[in-house]
Amino acid sequence: MDKNQRPIGVFDSGIGGLTVLGEILKILPNENFIYLGDTARVPYGTKSSKTVIAYSQSNSRFLLSKGIKLLVVACNTASAVALQSLRWDFDIPIIGVIEPGARRAVNTTNTGKVGVIGTPSTIKSNAYQKAIKNISPEIKVFSISCPLFVPLAEEGWTDDEIAELTAEKYLDPLKNLGIDVLILGCTHYPLLKSMIQNVVGKEVTLVDSAEETALEIQRTLIENHTSNGNSTSAEREFYLTDVSDTFVKIAGNFLGGNIERIHQIDLNNETY
Ligand code: DGL
Repeated sequence: MDKNQRPIGVFDSGIGGLTVLGEILKILPNENFIYLGDTARVPYGTKSSKTVIAYSQSNSRFLLSKGIKLLVVACNTASAVALQSLRWDFDIPIIGVIEPGARRAVNTTNTGKVGVIGTPSTIKSNAYQKAIKNISPEIKVFSISCPLFVPLAEEGWTDDEIAELTAEKYLDPLKNLGIDVLILGCTHYPLLKSMIQNVVGKEVTLVDSAEETALEIQRTLIENHTSNGNSTSAEREFYLTDVSDTFVKIAGNFLGGNIERIHQIDLNNETY
């Protein structure tokens, strides 16, 4: 096999990384992908850094065992707490989602006031705050964690009254602060986008990391001369640590077609 045909590995704690994969597929239709959703251990965002680092390492080891050429950490929580350790441990290009999202927000804001919502671990890490300040120190950042958004998205409850009440309660403190950009700092949150937009109002632009991350992957492949030039081979394979009907249904809807190649994988048994 031509080395450039090796797949790109993408992982998330569950379904959220599909919001990133969806954008990557638009920009890089020729590439082969292996997606790993750690659905048996979701959520990550309420767990300690130590646990998220351990999970992220086991996810990465599995994807590397599949011969990937590049790893995408399509999870803000794992990007916030584990990216450095993954880059230290594994010798392939690794792309996270925090810096791309921060970049997009800085390029979008006019008022210089940016809101960030994410899991408790992502918000506690201040990763977005640091990434934004690195690019533009004068921007004011207001952060709030929204832990219940992840189970709502995993359950497919994205546009009912429960989701709306939850969004109202979480997002109320962000009103009247003058923010004109809100970062959806969790890859699950784009699944609740229209609900969140209704609650914050249309004058606030919602920003997520997906498209910027896809562009960064494209740049990295070009720089490393590892783009797949073979347009006939594109394959997508899905591995889940727990296969549920809900995942299959939401994933199918989200990626616009049936998700066929789904396998269940036990990451505790590293013989795979
Ligand atoms: N989708 C992930 C994120 O971007 C993790 C959500 C979770 O497992 O808590 O943070």
